[in-house]
Amino acid sequence: METITLRTDTADCFAEAVVQASSSLRHGAVVALPTETVYGLAANALDAACVAKIFEAKDRPSENPIIVHVADESMARDCVAEWPAAAAALAKAFWPGPLTLVLPKAEGIPDNVTAGGDTVGVRWPRHPLMQEVIRACRFPLAAPSANVSNQVSPTTADHVAAQLAGRIPLIIDGGAAEVGIESTVVEVAGDTVRVLRPGMISGEAIAAVCPVGAGENETGILKSPGQLPRHYAPNARLLVLTWTDAEDLEKRIAYSRTPHDRVCVIAHNRIVAGTRFGRVSILPNDPESYARALYAELHECDAEGAELIVVEAVPEAVEWQGIADRLARASE
Ligand code: TXA
Ligand code: MG
Repeated sequence: METITLRTDTADCFAEAVVQASSSLRHGAVVALPTETVYGLAANALDAACVAKIFEAKDRPSENPIIVHVADESMARDCVAEWPAAAAALAKAFWPGPLTLVLPKAEGIPDNVTAGGDTVGVRWPRHPLMQEVIRACRFPLAAPSANVSNQVSPTTADHVAAQLAGRIPLIIDGGAAEVGIESTVVEVAGDTVRVLRPGMISGEAIAAVCPVGAGENETGILKSPGQLPRHYAPNARLLVLTWTDAEDLEKRIAYSRTPHDRVCVIAHNRIVAGTRFGRVSILPNDPESYARALYAELHECDAEGAELIVVEAVPEAVEWQGIADRLARASE
């Protein structure tokens, strides 16, 4: 299958991309689209046969539910059977944005979207291209991240092409993702709210809007279906470590017997000299900029044939919770 990539960097090609993407989606195809978190692989959420094509292109296990993307609150309410006050409050505070609300599903949502479950995840993304495409389609879009299952999510159109070229007909290039890691997923059951997947909207920010119920552990974070312990992982082995200087770091990875030129280091605070390792990248030391840059860095390490990626451990502060979660899953 030939894969076409369309740009959106002028008003004309943006408009043309909206027309092409929405017409492909209306004809039942899958299309890779930019969102502010990561790129998504979209299909008509109301048509099981279209959604099935997502699973096929991604090699996605069928027990993993898919998030449904909408372009306003009323479209979200059409996808769910209940809209409790907590959902309304969270939508008002964080939509459009990187927050997914899991609620009892409406009848019209096919089983393969929810992995056979009674709930559906809905999100109103804030990327303008994604919003325009949903409005043009006038149906919601089911979209998981646009990567082969269990690989690192794409934050650029090039990342999508590297994994899915030949497997999907159309990629829309909407620039580098602004948030950089996947949305915070929150379950709303009546007035009980729980974080299922941390993200850049922190548990604290959620709790400031409505009370968060206790989860399986003290952080209030529950296990989400389809969330394998190893997920969001690069091909190379990934270790999260702390170190004092380059010598200390060398000692800590010596046991792995990885040749130094196959080791990639991702630091943000204790910077080590680039000469000793295959690649040393320095990410910004604030969580928003770090999240924006992280996945591109992991894709780059894989592209360079890294055997071992050593990531400097991030702070334990709440603002870093989503990033720490992804690093932990990538290092399983
Ligand atoms: O930012 C994002 O959320 C991106 C963009 C494209 O919107 N999407 C994304 O989708 O990360 P995906 O498929 O890679 O991850 C969706 C995860 C599932 O693995 C599951 O953990 C959770 O969201 N999820 C979705 N629907 C759910 C449901 N009904 N109940 C519980 N968890 C659900
Ligand atoms: Mg994913």
